[in-house]
Amino acid sequence: MPDRSRVAVLISGRGSNMAALIYASRAASCPYEIVLVTGDRPDAPGLTLAEAEDVPVARLPAPAKGKDLFFAALQQTLEEARVDLIALAGFMRILPAHFVAKWAGRIINIHPSLLPKHKGLKTHAACIAAGDRVSGATVHLVSEELDSGEILGQVEVAVLPDDDDQALADRVLIAEHQLYPRILAEYASRPFDAAWIERQVDGLARRLPEVGRKTSHGSPGWSAGGEKGKLFAIIADQHHGEDAIGLLIKASGLDEMTGLIETQPDKYYWPKYYGVSGWLGLKMNRRDVDWGEVEDWLERSWRACAPHRLTKLMRAAEDF
Ligand code: GRF
Repeated sequence: MPDRSRVAVLISGRGSNMAALIYASRAASCPYEIVLVTGDRPDAPGLTLAEAEDVPVARLPAPAKGKDLFFAALQQTLEEARVDLIALAGFMRILPAHFVAKWAGRIINIHPSLLPKHKGLKTHAACIAAGDRVSGATVHLVSEELDSGEILGQVEVAVLPDDDDQALADRVLIAEHQLYPRILAEYASRPFDAAWIERQVDGLARRLPEVGRKTSHGSPGWSAGGEKGKLFAIIADQHHGEDAIGLLIKASGLDEMTGLIETQPDKYYWPKYYGVSGWLGLKMNRRDVDWGEVEDWLERSWRACAPHRLTKLMRAAEDF
């Protein structure tokens, strides 16, 4: 099992979602651990609870003393705690664009409505006013636009005829406490999930011309020039006792392969049996996979394997 993802929870208030994340993390099988709780209010009740639960807490000076200073201190605290993911749980500040960009794909939030419905504050009142029969909660990635990042999971909650916004909020909160730990766990596991990796590679590979799917000794692969074409990429999921979930691609030759493996052993490896046939292994079960780089490797490998008529077309299109 890979190391657990290191999660920081950011709060502004009571921190009941924070508590749900902490208690869920106590299961031995939980793929994340809470390594830090912090926020924009040094007096937030949730911080006292986190301390009592022996979770490291940072009481940062409130942003009233300067928003830029606050986010600089937050960034430093997160780095010192070697945080992989940030979970917002009732954190009432808009994050500055540079902070969101720095942590792109690594900040998640819980919102008490079925997004895209009822963004922003006072969601329960808005839901009742709209006459909705169903409300719920959403866990989503944080992007620059408020409450608009990719939705990772949702849960529905019935609205009862007599509900006022507090009654609805109380019930949605129960659902939030179920949803958040489950979706955070799924998200933290993603980089090590071979099926998820295969779907991402598939999406990128299919951007190339005439790509087919086929297998190589049972492993999923992609071929250039339709299904009958030559394989240009294979996923080797911990083959023959290897640690790596590897994407096997064609480099320019043995010199390049051995050079990359020697200089960047965390990233590249010599795949058993496949190495001798010129396949280079790119380790995919890492937290820091650069998907732009994966796309470049797929294209290079495709070019090395595609039939001449296709590479000629590609070059003609590029010269155009
Ligand atoms: C929750 O309803 C959450 O969805 C919203 O703020 C509230 C925080 O509550 N973002 P708590 O501090 O987790 O108890």
